Amino acid sequence: MRKVNYGVIGTGYFGYGLAKIIRDDVQGGKVVAVYDPNNAEEIARELDCDQEMDIESLCKREDIDAVIIASPNANHKEPVLYAAKHNKHVFCEKPIALSYQDCDQMIEITKRNDLVFMAGHVMNFIDGVREAKRVINDGEIGDILFCHAERTGWEDAKEQVSWKKKKKLSGGHLYHHIHELDFIQFLMGPATRVCMVGGNVAHQGEEFGDEDDLLLASLEFKNNTFATIQYGSAFRLGEHYVKIQGTKGAILIDLKNVNVVVKTLDKEERILLHASEVEDENRRRIYQELEGGIMYGDPKTKVPIWLDTIMKKELNYFHDVLLGLEVEEEFIPLLDGTAARAAVATADALTLSLKEDRKVSVDEIIAMKAQATVS
Ligand SMILES: NC(=O)c1ccc[n+]([C@@H]2O[C@H](COP(=O)([O-])OP(=O)(O)OC[C@H]3O[C@@H](n4cnc5c(N)ncnc54)[C@H](O)[C@@H]3O)[C@@H](O)[C@H]2O)c1
Repeated sequence: MRKVNYGVIGTGYFGYGLAKIIRDDVQGGKVVAVYDPNNAEEIARELDCDQEMDIESLCKREDIDAVIIASPNANHKEPVLYAAKHNKHVFCEKPIALSYQDCDQMIEITKRNDLVFMAGHVMNFIDGVREAKRVINDGEIGDILFCHAERTGWEDAKEQVSWKKKKKLSGGHLYHHIHELDFIQFLMGPATRVCMVGGNVAHQGEEFGDEDDLLLASLEFKNNTFATIQYGSAFRLGEHYVKIQGTKGAILIDLKNVNVVVKTLDKEERILLHASEVEDENRRRIYQELEGGIMYGDPKTKVPIWLDTIMKKELNYFHDVLLGLEVEEEFIPLLDGTAARAAVATADALTLSLKEDRKVSVDEIIAMKAQATVS
């Protein structure tokens, strides 16, 4: 297969952005059909491709090799299952699903049919993040003891409440902004026991969704190592960063102030977050106008240049893998859904912890799936 034909499901803010990248920046890639219950006709006209009237008819087309899924978070499972049933490779936006069990079903069928199942965890394609991983893998900051991430800000009432603010559709901040949780687990392995407190403390009423606006999570890992993560829209002084504390050094990846600091035993240096100074400056300027790191795009806006660049990198990676590129070790769990499932398992455990007011073992979530399979 030298060329890859794509179908895109969900052509809003992100799906449309991904489709345009395939058209303009992925050599040998072509969007041949789109499905969206609201705007597919207009997008199909613009992309000069077919509009399909339902998910399965898109997934079963013989001229489609891979399906890109960018529908709302709660609507990823159905297209993944249809795509896999019809032997199409899958690129699915994050979070791939809103429960461990759903992730598991998606992985089971894509694996059984020997398909690539890549999660859109785009943070993995940020240059500064990759460089931080390299520094860590080379042992330059020693062993990781602790990570702390914040993705917080303030949300005012909006005229229309987006699906992104509704727990049933987005999962709320913890699932919708799963990037930081996923990244920390990429560095530290899967969390073993977790605990979360919080709730909806300042955003009740019709003009808001029903998601929790303040979530304070603590995670335990093997070898006596730990992480804490704060998410939410009830923080007037918002932040967006990940801090990695090692035995010999530390790394700060500040995605709000756009500042990446690598501190080792003999030096402290700053590296770029994105591909160039221009992209870093663009992100810095955009974030200055926002209250922290909880912004979300809407269908009328275009993705910023730094995001466009990393979307190009991730889609080209997916495309190259479909054309036979051997997956780098770092990315194996990203391309079979297992890293995405591990992040959702921890998110499920945190959710249960908040609900039942207790510390939860992530194995409990995994065992629930085993029990459901038996009964
Ligand atoms: N990786 C990232 O950084 C990033 C950034 C933004 C969005 N996303 C993800 O992309 C996905 C889409 O988000 P968005 O910002 O484009 O939202 P959006 O609301 O702009 O677009 C969603 C689109 O899906 C369509 N849709 C609704 N129900 C559908 C269904 N059942 N089947 C197919 N399509 C359906 C809507 O009509 C809309 O056009 C989400 O999973 C989101 O988490 C990822």
